[in-house]
Amino acid sequence: MKNEHPDPYKAVFEACEEGIFVVNKEGTIVMANRASHKLFGYEEGELIGLSVELLVPPAVRGVHIDDRKAYEANPAPRQMGHGRDLAGRRKDGSEFPVEISLNMAQIDNVYHTLAFAIDISERKKIEEALKRSEEQLIVYAAELEKRVTKRTQDLDNTIRQLERVNADLEDQVRIRKKAEDETRLALSRERELNELKSRFVSMASHEFRTPLSTMLSSASLIERYKEPGTEEKRQKHINKIKSAIGNLTNILNDFLSLSKLEEGKVGLEKEDIKINEVLKDITDDMADICKNGQNIIIDIDEKEILFHTDEKILKNILINLLSNAIKYSEANTDITVIIREDPDLLTITVKDQGIGIPEGEQKHMFERFFRAKNATNIQGTGLGLNIVKKYVDMLEGEISFSSKLNEGTTFSIDLPKIV
Ligand SMILES: Nc1ncnc2c1ncn2[C@@H]1O[C@H](COP(=O)(O)OP(=O)(O)O)[C@@H](O)[C@H]1O
Ligand SMILES: [Mg+2]
Repeated sequence: MKNEHPDPYKAVFEACEEGIFVVNKEGTIVMANRASHKLFGYEEGELIGLSVELLVPPAVRGVHIDDRKAYEANPAPRQMGHGRDLAGRRKDGSEFPVEISLNMAQIDNVYHTLAFAIDISERKKIEEALKRSEEQLIVYAAELEKRVTKRTQDLDNTIRQLERVNADLEDQVRIRKKAEDETRLALSRERELNELKSRFVSMASHEFRTPLSTMLSSASLIERYKEPGTEEKRQKHINKIKSAIGNLTNILNDFLSLSKLEEGKVGLEKEDIKINEVLKDITDDMADICKNGQNIIIDIDEKEILFHTDEKILKNILINLLSNAIKYSEANTDITVIIREDPDLLTITVKDQGIGIPEGEQKHMFERFFRAKNATNIQGTGLGLNIVKKYVDMLEGEISFSSKLNEGTTFSIDLPKIV
């Protein structure tokens, strides 16, 4: 077949950029366009009549024949060698990557195979370059990931180290803070005790003066009453001395009780005590310091009340309250002690008809060294009620009071039964 065939189809055939072959059943090339000659390195027209297997590398010729047969048995347009790389063989024996698509065409009533071939060297090169860079990318990504993992690990370690250091520091801060708190507490306790002592010294030097000068003058008067018939006067001054000594003892007792309490030296020793007997002991003792006509009346429901408590502490509380009641009320007045019991509480009330406490000053009642203005002419330390409050706290009880100026004062203590 000549290329200058006037047939327009032929012209299209020849103008095609793809190599086009028409192959018969025997595998002989019956038509081949210009591009196909060029593709396989043949002179124009040289391919006609040649076996198509010549265009295939010798190693795959057998496979090619089988493929061709299979295609003829089931001819549908398709790509040849789908999924594998095809190679074409040039006349000079060199090989090149090729892509071939197949079709069937009827020529002179006989089926022929139509093959379209393109050189895909460039595409392959690009594909390979892409693949190579893809592989590089993968390697690079893997490398990067490794580095990130390593860095993350390093950071993790650093963070963990920092956390450990932080925890250590927090511990240290806590320990120091505790030591600081303890020191501060010890210091404030020390300061309070010192203040207590120095206030006591100034209070004592003031309060001691009166009883001491009473004693001195009474003693020198007794010295003068030597004659018979002056016994009564002597006795009067002896009593004055006794009461002055009593006052001094009270001051010392208050102070000793308070410093013992402050130093935490007072312990609880509870036992079952008979309230009636304890009260009787105390009131008998207090009778000595009662003024003329002062009566201590005991108002108690039961004949015998048993109560589980610390006897010394309870006695101290009652002595303090009763000595106040006596001290801060006039001769010829009643002082009443009321005992009431309910299932949970023992209530002790001490009531007097004395000078009372000015309303504005009542809020300071339990403060250390507090003395109301209307009491300044009466001997005292201002420590008794502070001590009473501390004792009541130790027994887990409650203390309250009510008072009216010049009418009287009532103190009440609630002590829980089961502690
Ligand atoms: N029964 C009372 N009647 C009036 N005033 C009282 C009574 N008990 C306490 N007070 C007032 O409370 C103050 C504090 O009492 P207390 O602590 O016992 O100290 P002190 O009796 O040594 O003065 C007293 O100085 C007094 O002003
Ligand atoms: Mg007192």
